[in-house]
Amino acid sequence: MNLGGNSKALGPVFVLALVFFASPAWAWPTTAFLSRYWHRPLPTGGRSPPHWAAFEIALSPAACGQCHIRQYREWRRSRHALAMGPGVLGQLMVAGLGHWAFVQGCLSCHAPARRQNHAVRATLQGAPLAATVREGVTCADCHVRDYRRFGPPLEPYLAAGRIVHGGFTARKAFARSRFCISCHQFHRNGARLHGALLENVYGEWRRSRYARAGVTCEDCHMPNGRHDFYGIHNRRFVRKALTIRLLAKPQALKRDLVARLSITNSGVGHDFPTYTTPEVVVTIRQECAGRTCLGTVRRLVIGRRISLDLQRQYFDTRLRPGQTRRLPYDVVRAARATALEARIVVVPDAAYIRFFRAYLVRYRLTPRERATIRRALARDENSQYVLWRTKRALGTVARPATPLSATPDR
Ligand code: HEC
Ligand code: HEC
Ligand code: HEC
Ligand code: HEC
Ligand code: HEC
Repeated sequence: MNLGGNSKALGPVFVLALVFFASPAWAWPTTAFLSRYWHRPLPTGGRSPPHWAAFEIALSPAACGQCHIRQYREWRRSRHALAMGPGVLGQLMVAGLGHWAFVQGCLSCHAPARRQNHAVRATLQGAPLAATVREGVTCADCHVRDYRRFGPPLEPYLAAGRIVHGGFTARKAFARSRFCISCHQFHRNGARLHGALLENVYGEWRRSRYARAGVTCEDCHMPNGRHDFYGIHNRRFVRKALTIRLLAKPQALKRDLVARLSITNSGVGHDFPTYTTPEVVVTIRQECAGRTCLGTVRRLVIGRRISLDLQRQYFDTRLRPGQTRRLPYDVVRAARATALEARIVVVPDAAYIRFFRAYLVRYRLTPRERATIRRALARDENSQYVLWRTKRALGTVARPATPLSATPDR
């Protein structure tokens, strides 16, 4: 990799952006309305309608939140509100204005409105960081074009209203999976490894039983119109979608410990996990005085690991909807083992942890850029959590008599 001068932005995500640019039109079934609606950069504002009050013209999420209180509260804790975090911003700073097309590629999903693009450009020119830059995927990005509000059809009396901001235009598209694909699905001709698109949420969903049953992205990620968009970062949300079983009979175990942990994707509407970024680490081990007994760990990683330059795939162990994967355990019992422990740890940002570590080593960064990437790395290292854990005490076993002359095992 060339790490010098202007080309220091040519990191792995640069490849991702190229993939994005190479896909001018969405080959997935969409409607004329949706392809117009998601044409970048999004014209959310512009020349404001005459006679509108300041609170109707303001497009920041906080402004919408004065009336749409619940949606604002939920959106604020969603990943969409974090879409312009230090990981994205740091890379945009490193790329700089000299690579504006690259920057715009990232912004087309992370901060897609024209006014957001302008704000980022000003920041890269040296202006102080404006709130607009940090807002991420905002209410207006999904709901406003040229100040006109668009939303799902609700009660007729509301749809007919003109109480504020000129009322709104009702569109059924808001309840459909296709509404989400312009940021969550690669074009059919996009980059693939081992035949599978690098980002294929909609494709995975389409071939699942959920699509056949009419269960959409919104049904799972926005139940009752909720705006917190829970996903892999939320323990409870993930736990509910999996069936986990440990089969073991420790009391019957003498010399060998035989067990089996099975994990079934019983409620995720696409592969678990869908992206190449999260990893789910499953381990079974024996415990000796609270620690792992040497040589007793068996491990399985669920995910799709690819190289940082996106050119190689190491493994793809993701679970399709309905699929089960098992971790068998057949290990000699350690002399001092007191318990058998099984756990599942979710690392939602595993690929970014690897990526940012490499980034800090490989690139010559200014102190400000370095601090920003370090913050991103710390955040990603902190996002991991224990999804599930269980421990079975092991009964005492009469050990074969040891001759007195033998060295005590440690
Ligand atoms: C990623 C896109 C997205 C973002 C960001 C977003 N919304 Fe929504 N919103 C939707 C979709 C899709 C629906 C329809 C959900 C459904 O009907 O299942 C919706 C529904 C609504 C509704 C209709 C009533 C309801 O709750 O179903 C309102 C009002 C609304 N959003 C306001 C907001 C506000 C205010 C914000 C920012 C704080 C916001 N939205 C952010 C996509 C978004
Ligand atoms: C097609 C839409 C799309 C494009 C284009 C895109 N991203 Fe993302 N990005 C996503 C989605 C969706 C996620 C969340 C899933 C994940 O973690 O992979 C994400 C996650 C991230 C994250 C981790 C989360 C965080 O906030 O720290 C970083 C960093 C990131 N993107 C940087 C970039 C950069 C830099 C570019 C431009 C080279 C870019 N992205 C282009 C959609 C996109
Ligand atoms: C002063 C209060 C107020 C503010 C500020 C406000 N709204 Fe609304 N909004 C309403 C009311 C009241 C309605 C009911 C529609 C009507 O006027 O008939 C509504 C309706 C909507 C709908 C349609 C919901 C549906 O059923 O589909 C959307 C979407 C929406 N607003 C989005 C926004 C966004 C995005 C912002 C910020 C850019 C915003 N609103 C700012 C009061 C407000
Ligand atoms: C304008 C682009 C855009 C649109 C439209 C969009 N998203 Fe996202 N979404 C993103 C980005 C960018 C991220 C990653 C943010 C981050 O982690 O930094 C994301 C993250 C997510 C996550 C990940 C949560 C987690 O725990 O990692 C879920 C779930 C999600 N979006 C669901 C949806 C659904 C459902 C829709 C359609 C109603 C939708 N999104 C529409 C850009 C978008
Ligand atoms: C049947 C429910 C269901 C449906 C339908 C569904 N999801 Fe998910 N989704 C989940 C669950 C549960 C998770 C958390 C586990 C995981 O990450 O796979 C998740 C995770 C995610 C994530 C987090 C990133 C990742 O790697 O997993 C994104 C982004 C996402 N979904 C987007 C979508 C989009 C876009 C659609 C529609 C095409 C959709 N989902 C349809 C249940 C669903």
